Amino acid sequence: MAEVILEVRSATKNFGGLKAVNNLSFDLHKGEIVSLIGPNGSGKTTTFNLITGLYEPDSGDILMQGESIAGLKPGQIYARGISRTFQMLRLFSNMSVLENVLVGMHGRTKANVIDCMFRTPRMRREEEASIVRAREILAMFPGRFPLARHTQPAASLSYANRRRLEIARALAGEPRLLLLDEPVAGMNPAESMEVMRQIRDLRDAGYTILMIEHDMNVIMGASDRVIAMDHGIKIAEGAPVDVANDPAVVEAYLGRRGADTAS
Ligand SMILES: Nc1ncnc2c1ncn2[C@@H]1O[C@H](COP(=O)(O)OP(=O)(O)O)[C@@H](O)[C@H]1O
Ligand SMILES: [Mg+2]
Repeated sequence: MAEVILEVRSATKNFGGLKAVNNLSFDLHKGEIVSLIGPNGSGKTTTFNLITGLYEPDSGDILMQGESIAGLKPGQIYARGISRTFQMLRLFSNMSVLENVLVGMHGRTKANVIDCMFRTPRMRREEEASIVRAREILAMFPGRFPLARHTQPAASLSYANRRRLEIARALAGEPRLLLLDEPVAGMNPAESMEVMRQIRDLRDAGYTILMIEHDMNVIMGASDRVIAMDHGIKIAEGAPVDVANDPAVVEAYLGRRGADTAS
C-alpha cells in the first residue's frame, strides 16, 4: 500500500448543537483519487474546512504526512502542501489569468518585505521563476490557456475555464494533496468528462486528490475509492461500485429526496 498522506482521526466539529462532522476517520494514500459523497448538509465541506484549517476540530486530530496539523492556520497548512478549490469560485475577476495563478504561489516564495520594497535581485529572480512555473501549470490544461489568454482578466473566461483556473491556482501552491469541492459543478457533460480526465492526469502525475462530487459519472469514472457521509458520520467506504450500492448510502440519498436541492 502506498504511503499515507493524510490521516483524519475521530475528527468532530460542532456548530451549536449540530455535529456537522461526527467522529470522522479516514486515510488518504499517495496517488489516489478519493471522492467524498453524501446528501446536502452531510458534512463534506466542513470536512474540507477542517483539513484546510478554516475550522479547528473540537476533538480528534488530522495528520499530514505523520504530523498533526489540527489547529494550524490555513496559510501554515497550505505551506505543508494542502491546496483546495471552493464550491463557489473564488477567483480575482479583475486580475489576469496568469496573476490568479501567481497569487496561488504567495507564501511559497522566499522574498521578504525588504526584497519587495527594494526590488532586490533575489526578488526579481523569484518573480521570473514564478512566472515560468505559472505558465507550466497553465500548460497542464491542454488547449485551455494559450499564451494569448494569460493576460486576459479571469472574468472574461467561460465558466468551465474559470473552474479550471481555480484548479490551476490551487496547483500553484505545489500541493501534495489537492482538495476539490465539486470540480464539475455547473459544467455540461462534455466539460465534466474532460475535467474528470484532467483530474486523473493529475493523479497520474503524482498528486493525491480528495474531491467532493455529486456527478455519478465523474465519481464512478475517476475515483479509486469513495467515502460516503450522512449527518456528519461516515456511513460507507470502499470501491466506487460497492459504495454506490451500499444499502446505507442508497437509504441516505432516498431519505433526503425531495427535501434538498443539489448544491
Ligand atoms: N459555519 C457554519 N455554521 C453553522 N452551521 C454550519 C456551518 N457550516 C456548515 N454548517 C452546517 O453543518 C452541516 C454540514 O454542512 P456542510 O459541511 O456544508 O455539508 P455538505 O458540504 O455536505 O453539503 C449542515 O447542516 C450545515 O448547515
Ligand atoms: Mg458542500
